[in-house]
Amino acid sequence: MAPPLCPRLDVVAASAAALLGVLLATASAALAGGGTGGYARVFSFGDSLTDTGNALRLPCTGGGGPASRPPYGETFFRRPTGRASDGRLAVDFVVEALRLPHPAPYLAAAGKTAAGFDHGVNFAVAGSTALSPEFYAGRGLKPFVPVSLANQTIWFHNVVQLLGSSDHDRRKVMASSLFIVGEIGVNDYLVSLVGNLTVGEVESFVPHIVGAIRSVVNEVIAAGATTVVVPGMIPLGCEPQLLALYQGGAGSSDAGDYDPRSGCMARLNGLAERHNRELRCAVAELRRAHWGTSTSVVYADLYRAVTDIVVSPGRYGFGDMPLEACCGGAGSYNFNVTAFCGASGATACADPSVYVSWDGVHFTEAANRHIACAMLKVRPAGAAPPGMATSTTWPAAAEAGRRRIGC
Ligand SMILES: *[C@@H]1O[C@H](CO)[C@@H](O)[C@H](O)[C@H]1NC(C)=O
Ligand SMILES: *[C@@H]1O[C@H](CO)[C@@H](O)[C@H](O)[C@H]1NC(C)=O
Ligand SMILES: *[C@@H]1O[C@H](CO)[C@@H](O)[C@H](O)[C@H]1NC(C)=O
Repeated sequence: MAPPLCPRLDVVAASAAALLGVLLATASAALAGGGTGGYARVFSFGDSLTDTGNALRLPCTGGGGPASRPPYGETFFRRPTGRASDGRLAVDFVVEALRLPHPAPYLAAAGKTAAGFDHGVNFAVAGSTALSPEFYAGRGLKPFVPVSLANQTIWFHNVVQLLGSSDHDRRKVMASSLFIVGEIGVNDYLVSLVGNLTVGEVESFVPHIVGAIRSVVNEVIAAGATTVVVPGMIPLGCEPQLLALYQGGAGSSDAGDYDPRSGCMARLNGLAERHNRELRCAVAELRRAHWGTSTSVVYADLYRAVTDIVVSPGRYGFGDMPLEACCGGAGSYNFNVTAFCGASGATACADPSVYVSWDGVHFTEAANRHIACAMLKVRPAGAAPPGMATSTTWPAAAEAGRRRIGC
């Protein structure tokens, strides 16, 4: 299957680049919205890479899940908070960088009144898929939790209704907010791969998954959002869980060769790259649709942020085994499904800051800082469409934020 064609943006890009200089120069004068970074709050959507306490409150997990137990949280919060890491997530670094309050986990916000939500809301749920359970049921697969982007979007609309008494007021709130839609989709791929679909079969889901992400971006823009960051897929082939799974002979048989530079599985990284190509096209189309308005849609290159570390760990202050999980049981890549981090047979490494993967599935705080830096990159390097931000707020806020968290 050929990848879809991206709209040609290079013609407008040249003038956009020239314009960007002017915008950056005048941006500080143009900042609006309340927070020192130009935004007043964050709304985020996603999965365990962004969940700061929602899955803990799902009835079906019984308040449990590994992230509710030590040593989760040991590095920064000094207690488990529901974050799937030893410390802060990328979204925590982003709000720190922009000097914004931490968005309330939707399912935790007491009473569901406006006051619980006016500092921003995090809709991300660990285990959430982009696509609805019906998509998987028809294919004999079952998502890990009964939450998809459809639920998160309904929650968002509930919150919007609480945040203003008129349409005009609500749009003002949305316009002064930063939206982060993703990373989302990793569980769609995991559900399918663990369910023994071949990588080739899973590739056919990419347009559906990207379509679901695009719908959320369209919905938040329709509600008044002016800045939407859309993080891409992480390198699936570098995940210790999947590396261990395929080495153990389970999962689909066509995962293929290892990349000699990184030691990651080439076919799985190819799947992630395909997702990102289609997502970048979707972002480019959204930008084009909103070109000339005050709306910015920005792609964030998480894939590159992680592979850069994995290929040259020393350069970024990481140890020389970037594919080993810090916390887990014995086994290849220090990943053992019966001794998952937080379970009795698992132990954590002494210094998580030199590890990329915390528990074989999720990143350490140290890696999350790099990921946040990628999310705050105004013009991602590589094949991403050149920066065409038409809002003056985002480039200035993101640049200042990067400096603040030491990117
Ligand atoms: C998500 O939506 C589905 C379909 O409407 C529903 O069955 C499920 O209970 C929802 N999940 C939560 C946590 O509300
Ligand atoms: C996937 O394949 C493995 C190994 O063949 C098997 O043990 C496992 O039960 C299969 N999983 C599913 C969901 O079919
Ligand atoms: C995985 O953990 C279990 C439980 O602690 C242990 O019995 C088993 O030997 C471990 N597997 C490997 C490959 O080390």
